[in-house]
Amino acid sequence: MLGPLLLRASRNERARGIVTSAPAFRRVVRRFVPGEEAGDILAATNDLVSAGLTVTIDHLGEDILDSAQAAATRDIYVQLLGQLAALGLAQHAEVSLKLSAMGQALPRDGQAVALGNARAVCQAAAAAGTTVTLDMEDHTTVDSTLSVLRDLRTDFPWVGAVVQSCLRRSEADLRDLVQAGSRVRLVKGAYAEPPSVAYAAKPDVDRAYVRCLEILMKGAGYPMVATHDARLIEIAAHLAERHGRGADGYEFQMLYGIRPTEQRRLAGSGSRVRVYVPYGGDWYGYFLRRLAERPANVAFFLRSAVTR
Ligand code: FDA
Repeated sequence: MLGPLLLRASRNERARGIVTSAPAFRRVVRRFVPGEEAGDILAATNDLVSAGLTVTIDHLGEDILDSAQAAATRDIYVQLLGQLAALGLAQHAEVSLKLSAMGQALPRDGQAVALGNARAVCQAAAAAGTTVTLDMEDHTTVDSTLSVLRDLRTDFPWVGAVVQSCLRRSEADLRDLVQAGSRVRLVKGAYAEPPSVAYAAKPDVDRAYVRCLEILMKGAGYPMVATHDARLIEIAAHLAERHGRGADGYEFQMLYGIRPTEQRRLAGSGSRVRVYVPYGGDWYGYFLRRLAERPANVAFFLRSAVTR
């Protein structure tokens, strides 16, 4: 019950105002978001890379309905990519983009605006010597995001896609995506979706994840297995071996602050591990989705907020 409630709150402006204005809450958010400024993310990236992990960086912000703000977000990414290159981190750190932060939801020409902004970020990534992955948002955006992906891949074949196992359409999408060189991140899905398009029960989402893993591991693309689920991590490793993939033939991905010991254990045992690290001031929606995934975090969150 709490999970769906938190997902609804993640898009509620009143709840956003209450949570984001309380200084005690801001401190707790640091578990999942290392900071708001470029310096914070560069320091966090440096620490992770020093520990043998790779990184994908997300500048927080979504559902932008103002083209100037979308352009400002694009410029932040471009600048960040330059800084990563200057510090010698670009080889180990890429960026993750939400197209809704690039203008996809603008009422006029949203998809074209998002494509133009994302293209500029890809050009900066190419100059820095790294890659970009397009995050996937709720199901209403999937067709538009895959269309932008196809356009970007004409010039930048390394742009990564995300597929959510909770969506009924995903196995078919994956079959189209698993071409040679295609980087595909498989996730369960973080948005509240109607049963007409998504599996509602967790065991169904997990079973769909395994079916998607089979398609990915068997295909010619590069699988990015994004989950903290111990059972699915084990199954992924098993399937990779069965399909003749070595440790450099796929990677695990996890979120900053979630199962950090496991991230290091996997990397230490020879697996490729990438940590998704968000930064920026607009952390509310991201943070609420993390609470929704594990309602036990709510108790931790409230306890920390009142005991400081
Ligand atoms: P599940 O939620 O079943 O969790 C398995 C176990 O992991 C839990 O039992 C717990 O131990 C631990 N765990 C999971 N979440 C936790 C939390 N918040 N706090 C503490 N422990 C937790 N989604 C999306 O829709 N679009 C996207 O583009 C992305 N991108 C993305 C990138 C990367 C690198 C990751 C890891 C995830 C995403 N996601 C995403 C989010 C994804 O869809 C999903 O919501 C989360 O990964 C949680 O699902 P799990 O697979 O971890 O399983």
